[in-house]
Formats: sequence, C-alpha cells, structure tokens
Amino acid sequence: METIRWSVDINVEKQKSYPHISEAADFLRQGHVIAFPTETVYGLGADATSDAAVQGIFEAKGRPSDNPLIVHISTPDELQDLVASISPEAGQLIKAFWPGPLTIIFNKKAGVFSDLVTAGLDTIGIRMPSHPVALELISHSGKPLAAPSANTSGKPSPTSAEHVARDLTGRIKGIVDGGETGVGLESTVIDCTVTPPMILRPGGVSAEEIKACIGEVHVDPSLKKEQSAPRSPGMKYTHYAPTAPLYLIKGKADWIQQTIERLQGEGKKVGLLASEELAASVKADIVKMCGTREDPSTIARGLYHAIRSFNDTNADIILAEAFDEKGIGAAIMNRLEKAAGHKWINESSS
Ligand code: TXA
Ligand code: MG
Repeated sequence: METIRWSVDINVEKQKSYPHISEAADFLRQGHVIAFPTETVYGLGADATSDAAVQGIFEAKGRPSDNPLIVHISTPDELQDLVASISPEAGQLIKAFWPGPLTIIFNKKAGVFSDLVTAGLDTIGIRMPSHPVALELISHSGKPLAAPSANTSGKPSPTSAEHVARDLTGRIKGIVDGGETGVGLESTVIDCTVTPPMILRPGGVSAEEIKACIGEVHVDPSLKKEQSAPRSPGMKYTHYAPTAPLYLIKGKADWIQQTIERLQGEGKKVGLLASEELAASVKADIVKMCGTREDPSTIARGLYHAIRSFNDTNADIILAEAFDEKGIGAAIMNRLEKAAGHKWINESSS
C-alpha cells in the first residue's frame, strides 16, 4: 500500500478551505486508517463505528485485540449520542480539561461503536484533543475516531510524523503531518464509572490537577507493581522499549559516572538518557538529552524521541535518569518504568 503524506500548516489549510484535511477525512469515511497529530502523540485513526475500519488499526499496529482503543471527538456535544451517562465528576473534568490530554472512561451506549473498539467491555474511553489538526480532521470526517498511538505495538509512541513513517509506511493509507506534538506523552486515562474516579494511566493532566478539580481521586494501585493486573488493559504490555536493555538509574553524578565506567570495563557501549543537568556532569559513550529538570514538561516532550534515537546507535545498555514524580513527572516515570521493565540500578542499594 502506498502511504500518502500530507503536510499541514493549519493556518494555510484554513485559508484554502482545508484541502488536505478534507482528502484525509474522505479516506477515513471510506474505512481507511490515517495517522494524525494530537497534542499528546500521533494517533492512528479509523471510523469507530465500523468493524472493518477498526480492524485495520489492529492489523497495522500488530496490537493485541484485548486492548481497547480511545475514541476521539471534536466537541463535547457529541458525547450525548455515544455514552449511557455522564457522572457529575466527568462533567467537571470535561469543563476543566477538554479539549486536552484527558481520556475519560464512561459506560458506553449500546449499538454505537464497533465491538473491536471496546474489546468487549461495557465501557468506552473518550477524549477531545486540543490539536487544531486533530479537531478539524475529526469534524471533517463526521465520525468518532478510534485512535491508539500510531506506533508499532511495543515501540515508543510517535511524537513526529517521521516516527510514524518509520513504523507504518506501507501499512496505512496516509499520514497527516502537523509537525511535532506538544505534550509528548499520552493522555491521562481516568475511569469515571467508579466512585471516586480512578486514574488508570498517568499522563498529560496530572493527578494534582485532577484532585484540585474533583476532590477525591484514586490511582490504580497496580501501576506501581510489576506483577499485578492493571485495570487499563494496555498497561500490562511491555511498551516504549528501545532495542538495547534500559535501566533506571538513581544516585549522585559521581556514582553514576563510576557505574558507567564499570560497565564500559565489561566491554559495553553505554548509553545515557538524561536531563541537560546530568548530561553536563557525566560522560557516557552515547548521551541523549531530553530536556531540563527546571521544567519537567520539556522532559516529557523529548522523552520518546530520545528513547527512539538509541535505536540508531550501537549502545549495548541504556541508563535512564530517574525523575521526581510530581506533576507530569508521574507520567514520565510510569513510561520509563515500563521501558525499563522495572529494572533499576540504585546507589542506595548498591
Ligand atoms: O494521548 C493519547 O491518549 C493517545 C492519542 C493518540 O490520543 N492515544 C493513546 O491510545 O495513547 P492507546 O490506545 O495507545 O492507549 C489507550 C489506553 C490503553 O492503555 C487502553 O488499555 C486504555 O487506554 N483504555 C481504553 N479504553 C479503556 C477502557 N474502556 N477501560 C480501561 N482502559 C481503557
Ligand atoms: Mg499506545
């Protein structure tokens, strides 16, 4: 399959009455799979009401079929026709965080979505993204769009059209290229079918922000443990992993330097994934920087690109700096824990 690539500058598109977005939306209506930018990561979209279209997503990604997809809408008004009810907490969250990086789990309305979207569950995850290209594409298609992250299953989510092209060229109809994404990590997933609501995946909206909005909120306890079954089916799979084994590392800079030299002494090429601050004080064979500790949102934005870029190096092992878990830091550490398979090298236990 030839994969079309549309470069979209939203201001130019608008002046010309959305030529590229209309073309991509036509393909979506015909049941094709199209990748598009959101403010979090690129999504792999298809008509959520069509079995054949949604099947195309699972095939292109190689995604296990027991892992449900998020549905994307372009205005909160569309919810009425898609969900059985909207709890007061869900209503408050929608007001505060939509459009934006928050996926809310509702009880679904029967007979609307393809069963493949929900993997047989009675619930449905929905979000209204804030990226202008995503919003126009959804509204031009006239369909709710099921869209997981547009990576091959197991790889880090794509934060640029180039990442999507590397994983999926020849496997999908097209890629709407809207430049690099902003947040860089996926949306927060919160289940509002339970009381109090429960965060199933940390993401672009922090637990602190959610608490400030609705008061009591739980966090899925299994997120912290390697073994137990998480409530968000997708959280159980290995994810975001580069080819070389990745370890989280925590300790003072001089101890990290000694650890790197010990590994080099064993003949290993050592990669370091670090903030500007740590990268300035430690030497390794390959260093990828992903932002500054001063502003954790820069680390979130650069993280997946940095992880992916190790695959173009000869690193035998990657050491990833551990960050503070405040705010967006919870999502950063959740993704790094998964990329590391929960493997740590810790000064305090060595
Ligand atoms: O930022 C994002 O959320 C991106 C962009 C493209 O919108 N999408 C994304 O989708 O990350 P995906 O499929 O890679 O992750 C969806 C997560 C999975 O962990 C899945 O198991 C969970 O949401 N999920 C979806 N529906 C669910 C449901 N009904 N109940 C519990 N978890 C659900
Ligand atoms: Mg994903």
